[in-house]
Amino acid sequence: MWAAGAGAVACGAALLLRPGCASVSYPQGSALAVEFGDLPQGKLRTVEWRGFPVWILRRSAAEIEALAAREDALADPDSKASVQPDGCRNRHRSLRPEIFVAIGLCTHQGCTPALASTGGFLCPCHSSRYDLAGRVFKTGPAPANLVIPAYRHEAADRLLLGEVA
Ligand code: FES
Repeated sequence: MWAAGAGAVACGAALLLRPGCASVSYPQGSALAVEFGDLPQGKLRTVEWRGFPVWILRRSAAEIEALAAREDALADPDSKASVQPDGCRNRHRSLRPEIFVAIGLCTHQGCTPALASTGGFLCPCHSSRYDLAGRVFKTGPAPANLVIPAYRHEAADRLLLGEVA
């Protein structure tokens, strides 16, 4: 599904990353409620929201702790040049450490990365790698961390995409 619209999706992703080309620096509006109570640890769920694939991943305590381990290899470990709501500019890039929400499009050319067995995400197109907070490693061509959309937690197991906390 995402491959069929890759051109349009890639263009949309590029706009999100260029503040001068869009009225908002991250997608918001058209709220969508997403239930995730049945999402097991380590499983990635993808929902479509405003034409974007949005990931929800439940991370383990060990995975959250491991985010600190390789920050010297990351291009933007503090997400200073990356796109996310203010409440997600932290090491885990999320409102709750265990629940990771991101737009599942590589910031290089908009391909869809996959959850890698070695931890993190790997983009198959040109081998950009991201950690489990969507922070990009210096070794690949992707210029920025994955985009985090606006969202807020509405209940213990439900979040609302499109509204800032
Ligand atoms: Fe992901 Fe090129 S589109 S590395």
